[in-house]
Amino acid sequence: MSGAVITIDGPGGAGKGTVSLAVAHQLGWDYLDSGALYRVLGLSASRKGIAFDDEPALAAEAAQLGVSFGADDPNLGVRVLLNGAEVTQDIRTETAGKAASQVAAVPAVRSALLQRQRDFEQPSGLVADGRDMGTTVFPDAGLKIFLTASAEERAKRRYKQLIAKGDDANIRALQQEIEARDRMDSERSVSPLRPAENAVMLDSTSMSIDEVVSAVLALATERGLSV
Ligand code: DC
Repeated sequence: MSGAVITIDGPGGAGKGTVSLAVAHQLGWDYLDSGALYRVLGLSASRKGIAFDDEPALAAEAAQLGVSFGADDPNLGVRVLLNGAEVTQDIRTETAGKAASQVAAVPAVRSALLQRQRDFEQPSGLVADGRDMGTTVFPDAGLKIFLTASAEERAKRRYKQLIAKGDDANIRALQQEIEARDRMDSERSVSPLRPAENAVMLDSTSMSIDEVVSAVLALATERGLSV
């Protein structure tokens, strides 16, 4: 059943996930992390040895993908399950991100996942985070945000996250990976990364997460979306 929808699209590392989850919590709405669907598909295809250019096999895998979302974990965020088994951390690696971007460029995969994403719409409201939420999946959303940040700033944020986890990281290599993924996501033929015509552009390069969340909530109030 349809209800109010806020879409938050933009390139990887701009803070969409954190912002979307915070906005959803504040409004008491549901949250869809559409990138997690592509990440789980990439993981599942790799485990089964399906090539990332095997369109029919990827589409079949997408159609029967056993993905589900669990409750929020304070450290891990929204828990993600593949056939009932926890994959929350497995899908957050750089390799999984790249695999997601590759399978997401396959047109039959995008059509296989379209209705599944729309099914997340709730009468009580939904915040949907991704690349094409405002352009393709929820074109009638009441508020569409396009959240960006410079590649340099996004690499810095990712670097800090990895170092905090005790991982090794190289800031220049991270920036190159981020730019390569931006290109792959923006240049694909189906539903490329681009702002919807009526999207509000927010550049988070020199904004804190709290400032971005407040800006989105203020826009939601202006549009009469929040109570
Ligand atoms: O938001 P993310 O980093 O978890 O997304 C991983 C990849 O999935 C991203 O590089 C492109 C793809 N993706 C997409 O094509 N469309 C979406 N709505 C969300 C993600």
